[in-house]
Amino acid sequence: MCGIVAVTGYKKALPLLMNGLEKLEYRGYDSAGIAIVNSETKNITCNKAEGKLKNLIKNLNDKNMPGTVGIGHTRWATHGKPEIKNAHPHTNSSGTIAVVQNGIIENFQDLKNKLQKEGVIFNSDTDTEVIPHLIQRELNTLSKLNLDKNGSTLLVAVRNVISDLEGSYALAVLWADAPTSLVVARRQAPLIIGLGEGEFICASDTPAIANFTNIILPMEDEEIALLTPLGIEIYDSNNERQYRSPVSLKVSEQIMDKMNFKHYMLKEIYDQPETAKNWLKNYLIKDLENGQYQINYPFDTKFFESIERIEIIACGTSKHAAMVGKFLLEQFSGIPTNVFYASEFRYSPPPLLPNTLTIGVTQSGETADTIAAIDMEIKRRSSKEDKKFTPNLIAITNRKESSIGRQVLNIIDICAGIEVGVAATKTFFGQLLSFYGLAIKFAQIKGTQGSDEIDKLITELIKLPPLIEDLLEQHNESSEKLAHDFFNIKDVIFLGRGINYPIALEGALKLKEISYIHAAGYPAGEMKHGPIALLDKKVPVISIASPGQVFDKVISNAQEAKARDSFMIGIAPECNGTEIFDYLMKIPSSTEWVSPLLNIVPLQLLSYHIAAHRGLDVDQPRNLAKSVTVE
Ligand code: G6P
Repeated sequence: MCGIVAVTGYKKALPLLMNGLEKLEYRGYDSAGIAIVNSETKNITCNKAEGKLKNLIKNLNDKNMPGTVGIGHTRWATHGKPEIKNAHPHTNSSGTIAVVQNGIIENFQDLKNKLQKEGVIFNSDTDTEVIPHLIQRELNTLSKLNLDKNGSTLLVAVRNVISDLEGSYALAVLWADAPTSLVVARRQAPLIIGLGEGEFICASDTPAIANFTNIILPMEDEEIALLTPLGIEIYDSNNERQYRSPVSLKVSEQIMDKMNFKHYMLKEIYDQPETAKNWLKNYLIKDLENGQYQINYPFDTKFFESIERIEIIACGTSKHAAMVGKFLLEQFSGIPTNVFYASEFRYSPPPLLPNTLTIGVTQSGETADTIAAIDMEIKRRSSKEDKKFTPNLIAITNRKESSIGRQVLNIIDICAGIEVGVAATKTFFGQLLSFYGLAIKFAQIKGTQGSDEIDKLITELIKLPPLIEDLLEQHNESSEKLAHDFFNIKDVIFLGRGINYPIALEGALKLKEISYIHAAGYPAGEMKHGPIALLDKKVPVISIASPGQVFDKVISNAQEAKARDSFMIGIAPECNGTEIFDYLMKIPSSTEWVSPLLNIVPLQLLSYHIAAHRGLDVDQPRNLAKSVTVE
């Protein structure tokens, strides 16, 4: 989604902005732009380009853009097509104010209508463009008070404007008359200030800052700040000055290195043994007294005892992890659990029930729908006097410093390191592991599984890293070969049952996201109730058949597909029954419980190789964003 970079200091702004924008590319975007103010001439120069940053760089080659204060933006279109006129920065009519924004201004049409009646001419279809015009109007009013033309005046003007905005925003504002100042503000969209040496850099995400400094000040919701080369002033929504200490960026938040891999996605698939090792190291500890393993989540789990049900809120791949979580929490730990799309939960939440644990799952920690749904749940539970409705919250994320990290106290940080590929792989794996930990914890507390069964599961989790390494070695080349045959395919069906039904959904989502091939996942037993009508020899079926209670059923469902001439791919161990598959992606034997952690790996590899073979932009697929900060 849109990314913002803004800088003020003593160094030339252009390279700092471009470097920052490059680091935000992974969020997904379709146009980009920058604006820099020249403090000598008091002029703002803007440059914008459609498409990738390289187009903007080409534009800039022959342009001199001096100045040490500037703003930059990668735009993911919401209001208006990805055209130059809609790319940010947007300016007021005289070009003396420039604004970049991430988020959606929901009342922009009303504001625009009013401004148009006052004679303002708009040059774009965006919601953002109302902001510089409103700031101009505000500055006109303030000028009657004879205020100095400086950053403090700009701060007042922006504050007055944002109080009229509805929706969400992170924004950065330049004013030619205060050429060393920047005003930044946020509501329900991330913004982080980095404290460099001789410059302050403010951005939507840490990678854009990490090259300059590892000292950051994440802005809290509804805050506004004035940045000059001399310092920062931060204010809350009551206009109270805020003082707090900066924090250090973790090393894992600073590293964005493709190593020798062709794409980040492939590297991140290969990072999964490391993700497993990190999780085991961080969260599994052996009790020295009784030799038993315990899950060591970094919060007091006493409240688990009173929990009678769980609701999980997530989007996209995170929702698929949550569905595996539901299976584990219900079938292994005996706790009734429901999973909701955050975007649905917000507008049709279930009736409130007591003693509920709410879990938010989001790799980025910024998904607008998930953040808003959790917020709503906190509010509606807090409004009840009965203690049984107290919000009990856990968030599972890869970005502890994100919005969800500030919203929820109990965090399971999956510690997977920055994931750059838009299609989530290692963060999905880390989310799955987090749910295994919760299921074990609940089973221990509630006594729903004997210690033998719990030990068996833990032993399997401990053995994961080498198993995943073997899977990667075994399937990378073979899935690349298979990808050649699938090159021109139009539709693929994924089937799974029980704990592997979400893996079928995730396999299909991965393929769709990066290869643009239509794919759909179904519970295998449902196939005969509709999807079977799609099958013929042009539609391959990928069937996840892990030994366990539904193995025979999945094999029968696969037989039904084979009888319709579909090319059958099995994700299964080599065992009786799997000979029906035309191609078998062999999985090591395991219990059904841990099978999702193994089955997902060849599916990720296959999707990756199909997309790479089609020559597509695997890491930044069209129309998708890594961090979905709008509703
Ligand atoms: C976007 C990403 C997906 C991700 C989803 C939810 O659509 O492209 O990979 O699964 O958002 O993101 P979250 O950060 O909440 O897990």
